[in-house]
Amino acid sequence: MCGIVGYVGPRVATPLLVEGLKRLEYRGYDSAGVAIMNGAGVETVKEAGKISRLEAMLAANPVHGTTGIAHTRWATHGPPNQVNAHPHVSDDGTIAVVHNGIIENATVLKKMLEGRGYTFRSDTDTEVLAHLIEECFDGNLEDAVIEALRQVEGTYGIAVVSSVDAHKIVAARKGSPLLVGLGDDEYFVASDVSAILAHTRKVVYLDDGEMAVVDRNGYRIVDLNAMEVQKKVSRIDWDLGQIERGGFAHFMLKEIFEQPQTLENTMRGRLLDDDGTAKLGGLNLTDDELLAFDNIVITACGTSWHSALIGEHMIEELTRVPVEVEYASEFRYRNPIVNERTLCIVISQSGETADTLAAMREAKRRGARTLGIVNVVGSTIAREADGGIYIHAGPEIGVASTKAFTSQVIALLLFTLKLGRLRDLSILTGREIIEAMHRLPGQIQQILDRSAEIEALAEEFKRASNFLYLGRGYNFPVALEGALKLKEISYIHAEGYPAAEMKHGPIALIDEMMPVVFIAPHDSVFDKLASNIQEVKARKGRVIAITSRDEEALAGKVDYEFRIPETIDLLMPVLASVPLQLLAYYIAVKRGSNVDQPRNLAKSVTVE
Ligand code: F6R
Repeated sequence: MCGIVGYVGPRVATPLLVEGLKRLEYRGYDSAGVAIMNGAGVETVKEAGKISRLEAMLAANPVHGTTGIAHTRWATHGPPNQVNAHPHVSDDGTIAVVHNGIIENATVLKKMLEGRGYTFRSDTDTEVLAHLIEECFDGNLEDAVIEALRQVEGTYGIAVVSSVDAHKIVAARKGSPLLVGLGDDEYFVASDVSAILAHTRKVVYLDDGEMAVVDRNGYRIVDLNAMEVQKKVSRIDWDLGQIERGGFAHFMLKEIFEQPQTLENTMRGRLLDDDGTAKLGGLNLTDDELLAFDNIVITACGTSWHSALIGEHMIEELTRVPVEVEYASEFRYRNPIVNERTLCIVISQSGETADTLAAMREAKRRGARTLGIVNVVGSTIAREADGGIYIHAGPEIGVASTKAFTSQVIALLLFTLKLGRLRDLSILTGREIIEAMHRLPGQIQQILDRSAEIEALAEEFKRASNFLYLGRGYNFPVALEGALKLKEISYIHAEGYPAAEMKHGPIALIDEMMPVVFIAPHDSVFDKLASNIQEVKARKGRVIAITSRDEEALAGKVDYEFRIPETIDLLMPVLASVPLQLLAYYIAVKRGSNVDQPRNLAKSVTVE
């Protein structure tokens, strides 16, 4: 979603800001801009479309200055055009603002400001902030920002500069991530660490209600009463190589191919082979506390919600604790039955998804203990959860989540092992699961080594207009995830269903034009699924089957078969997802889609 970068220091700001914006491209955006203190005042350059267009404008008319802010916008209020792009500038031209989030009382504030003679040029809610800060300005930028923010309702991550109180950036956060990067005699502000990783790994994360005042001599963090707040400096252990494509055509492909390694990383140091259990240092729960919960609620969005469904199946099967999975966006506005005897597991790759964060806070308010299964270290969910499991998948840049999904499933399995062994799970079953987990990275590599087969399949199906994905048991969420991957990057309409539900409606769609992907490994529900395949074939559907062994029941019934290695039922979703990720990827590439930044999508959805 929208991205913010700011720089104060001895270097020329524009190239650093543009480089930072490019590192944030993956988050999704539709326009971009910079505001630089050029010595005479605030100079703003912005453009609709790709950052390369902004870069070309800046190359044609360079802007010099060593303090500046920059933004990539993902439209919420008003279309993605040059006027609505950020930064937005105050009426008198002295103040520039970039903003992520939504100002909910923008209409009321706009009316008030118009009444005082301010002229609005854009459709955005952000422009309200620029005028409001001007209205509150009395020579000191941070005082003006505090004064303005007291009148604002909604969410924001903002960075502000002023040509009157120059060489300073004021940044503030409520509900939208922001951090300060600490370099050598230079400072950065960013909404995402990737933007500044090339220059520093030392960062201070802002919490809601905090403001950073950054100039060449240092930084201060204050609250909205201007009281100084002491903050910890965090060290980022991601390196630059991890946020670059490294020879792959797309980040998504790189991330699919990283999975043998990322899964090793999720498991590293956590499996206790002899005891058939897992060690999870970050749960912040004693074994007795873990045993005391009556039920578990898992909440998440999108792909993370799909991993939650697999987690539900695992936890209930192996621990017998009741689990409910809820879309975070629904959970937050319901009246859910959650109390101090509930464990609420929150799953989020980014750790910043607005709905997931709100759902977690709601669960906390109701007394539940919260555990975050998160990828991005130091993200808001990771910091606010009572405990958690980092999945250690490394930066995921492709908008379509791939390696984070498989690592989330493994993190859920680690949790299941831990809780199961405290309850009724036998040491022998625990050991069998761990043995299968150890085999997993190698098995994924075997699938990846055959990616050319999937590419050929993609060629065959790239012109389809619809797809159905069907699976049962552990592989029903895989069907949902396979369909989501395809639709979000190839724009082909795709649906996932539990296979047996097909005859309650979707079967009407099946004809010779409809490809149906069956996730049909040899598991406990294989025979049932084989009958569903027959039903599709009888109606001339084109069947692609993900199987794991030669099955007599399928002879002559499938049009294409991709065989994955055998494993235990619990781990099939991880193996079966990989060919589906590749299928979506290759179809999208062959249809000419922008795979890493599909239309309308953002990597991290920080607005409701
Ligand atoms: C799909 C995808 C999204 C995310 C969802 C939640 O490929 O990436 O559906 O899974 O927006 O994001 P996180 O996990 O960051 O909370």
